[in-house]
Order: sequence, then structure tokens, then C-alpha cells
Amino acid sequence: MVTTVSHPLVQHKLSLMRDVRTGVKEFRELAGEVSLLLAYEAMRDLELAPERLSTPIEEGEFPMLSGKKLALVAILRAGLIMTDAIVSLVPAAKVGHIGLYRDPESLLPVAYYNKLPADIAERRVFLTDPMLATGGSASAAITRLKEAGAQSIKLMTILSAPEGIALIERDHPDVEIVTAAVDPQLNDHGYIVPGLGDAGDRIYGTK
Ligand code: URA
Repeated sequence: MVTTVSHPLVQHKLSLMRDVRTGVKEFRELAGEVSLLLAYEAMRDLELAPERLSTPIEEGEFPMLSGKKLALVAILRAGLIMTDAIVSLVPAAKVGHIGLYRDPESLLPVAYYNKLPADIAERRVFLTDPMLATGGSASAAITRLKEAGAQSIKLMTILSAPEGIALIERDHPDVEIVTAAVDPQLNDHGYIVPGLGDAGDRIYGTK
């Protein structure tokens, strides 16, 4: 299942991210802001339970987050910008990291780094990667999460391609994708078109 967050603020900020004239500082800020707005949607179904407390005026029962605790997991490196922003909304969340590279011969993603909260099986997991292109890395990361015991996973991306969505839906039909937009296609180099370029390079000013 794919949820596209069509809110005007998200779409406006995404267009600014796409703009080739947008520099590193602004791109980072926008990526963080869009991530917060995506999290607002992705976390819409967090459980609440009434808790008793007193306002300065009177005592009553008020909704507080309950249910499973949260884990944010970044796919390195570009996913970091998203978890760094989202953790400000959910400061008690634990944060994991998965690093993947593509084996030059098999072309399959290989995990070179995998550091996850030990109790990930008991947490709702929000996996972040700004760009869902072929979907190979995201699918491999979800497999890692499931091997570690994760049972509830949402994938949060800023921009997605139909190819990546199709792969996740095939490999992991239980994982909801929350994204700001789905672009029409990938080019021959695996870039999303029209896209926003290489998200990692634009976040970190590398190239
Ligand atoms: N990764 C990116 O950073 N950009 C793309 O367009 C595709 C994958």
C-alpha cells in the first residue's frame, strides 16, 4: 500500500527540493521539514490511551501515546536526514542504522553496517530513505529488519518511482510506503525522473 502525502506544504517544499538552484543548507532544511510532515501522516495510527492528569483547572482523562514503542531506522546515508528530523517529534524512539552497498558482480545489495535496537521486535519501525528508486536497498533493508524480528514496518520516502514501489509491494506486501510523490520513471542510471538528483549528494554537498 502506498500513501502519497499530497498536502500543499509538502508539495511546495518538495518542488523547492527539486529545484537545481536550491543549495545544501536549504535542501537539508526542506528535507527535514518534509520528513516531519510525512511522519505526521505515517504516525496517524499510533495508539492512544486515556491517562489521568490534572490541568491547572481540573483533573481529567486525556489521550497519551500507548501501545508499541517506536524505532526509526535510517538507510545510510541519506536516510539520516529524515531520522534526525523525526526524532524531534518522537524523542523516546530508538534509532537504528542500516548501510548497504551494491555488489559489483551480483548487483545485489550487501549490508556493510547493521545496528538495530535489540528490542526491535517489540517496536513499530519507521524505515527512512528519501529516494525509493529501484527499491533494491529498501527491500534488502526490510528483509534485515524482519530477520531481526521486526513485525510492524512502514517505509518513509520523500520521492518514489513506480519500479521501487512495485518491488516493495512484491517482496514485502505487508509494508506500507509513505511518500511525498511518485514520479513517472527511472532513467538508465537509476535516477528518478524528473526527481531531485542524488539526495545524498544534495544533503551533504558531495559530488
Ligand atoms: N537515489 C538518489 O539519490 N536519487 C535518485 O534519483 C535515485 C536514487
